[in-house]
Amino acid sequence: MPDVRLVNVTKRYGKIVAVDGVNLHIYDKEYFSLLGPSGCGKTTLLRLVAGLVQPDEGEIYIGDMLVNDVPPEDRDIGFVFQTFALFPHMNAWDNVVYGPRVKGFNMKKAETIGHEVLEMVKLHERLDAYPNELSGGMMQRIAVARALAAGAKLLLLDEPLGQLDAKVRNEIRYEIRRMTKDLELTAVHVTHDQAEAMAISDRIAVIKKGRILQIGTPTELYMTPKNIFVAHFIGESNFLEGYISSLNRKGAVIELRGEVKVQAEAPKKPEKGERVVLAIRPEAFVIEKGIKKKENSILGTIERTTFEGTNIRYKVRLENQDLIVVVKPSLVEEWLSVGENVTVSFSSGKTRAFTYPAEGLRKELTVE
Ligand SMILES: Nc1ncnc2c1ncn2[C@@H]1O[C@H](COP(=O)(O)OP(=O)(O)OP(=O)(O)O)[C@@H](O)[C@H]1O
Ligand SMILES: [Mg+2]
Repeated sequence: MPDVRLVNVTKRYGKIVAVDGVNLHIYDKEYFSLLGPSGCGKTTLLRLVAGLVQPDEGEIYIGDMLVNDVPPEDRDIGFVFQTFALFPHMNAWDNVVYGPRVKGFNMKKAETIGHEVLEMVKLHERLDAYPNELSGGMMQRIAVARALAAGAKLLLLDEPLGQLDAKVRNEIRYEIRRMTKDLELTAVHVTHDQAEAMAISDRIAVIKKGRILQIGTPTELYMTPKNIFVAHFIGESNFLEGYISSLNRKGAVIELRGEVKVQAEAPKKPEKGERVVLAIRPEAFVIEKGIKKKENSILGTIERTTFEGTNIRYKVRLENQDLIVVVKPSLVEEWLSVGENVTVSFSSGKTRAFTYPAEGLRKELTVE
């Protein structure tokens, strides 16, 4: 059964450490995403699993087999590339049955598989079309169909939806997930799009500079990010700087800039006087007109409003001069206008506190 295990895997290109001591266990039949900014090593990780590049250190297992010395064609994997890698001189049908044919399946079996997967990707009526006669979305579905038809139980997808427009991307990502689940495949999906990873994955590994920062379900990563980068990269966060002024049963009292004190969660191993960063999601704030006296409230003024359809987004300048983003559902909440004085508040349970990063907050948040 194709679970995938990487043990202390490192891959260097000259001085660049593309993959840096990665330990990872992708379970059998899991839909797993490798998520991170451009250049963080996602493609290299996938190519290591595929056998297209060799690790400098570490072991890679597919199922119970150590595959370090096994060539790609013997690893029994399907691969979907970012760019539409169909054979241009073959029509959709020939592209799809290419795998079963070269594997030497008899023609009848190859055709049965081909029909099944084309049915799955809903392109049965386009069997005769050549790649240049298909839209990007169709070509990518054919590419997925081709990978599925080859019959491998492990499917590797490198930004398979990268070149498609947003609407098509949304539809196809659910189709791909459904097909892998129907066929009981293990899928490893590379993307730099956090919304995509959140929508389709059973679990996600967030990667920065060749290292895994956190592995978790979409909910775990969103609700309990383990560090500032993950809180920033998954969804959106406001980061408020401050010091721990005291510790208590509920966590910590944190003094923000301008002597604003709030009750929040405590960071790991908290110390009084410690410099911290408080992460709060834009939707975690309550925002009200005027001056309201309540726990964990800060006064501010609306500096900008943006209507986004589903949501309305406010930039709020707080009384301590910090600038925050507050997002509210546009059909539910009363809209506020620029210049309006407001009170923003939040519950301590909806905060995450982190030790101030050694290299500064800005450096920690940069994605490149
Ligand atoms: N064949 C190669 N030769 C030299 N350096 C390479 C090679 N392949 C990748 N790298 C370097 O390794 C690092 C990781 O590259 P990789 O392609 O894995 O990133 P990525 O996360 O897939 O990025 P993107 O989202 O842009 O596709 C980068 O610094 C890249 O320049
Ligand atoms: Mg890549």
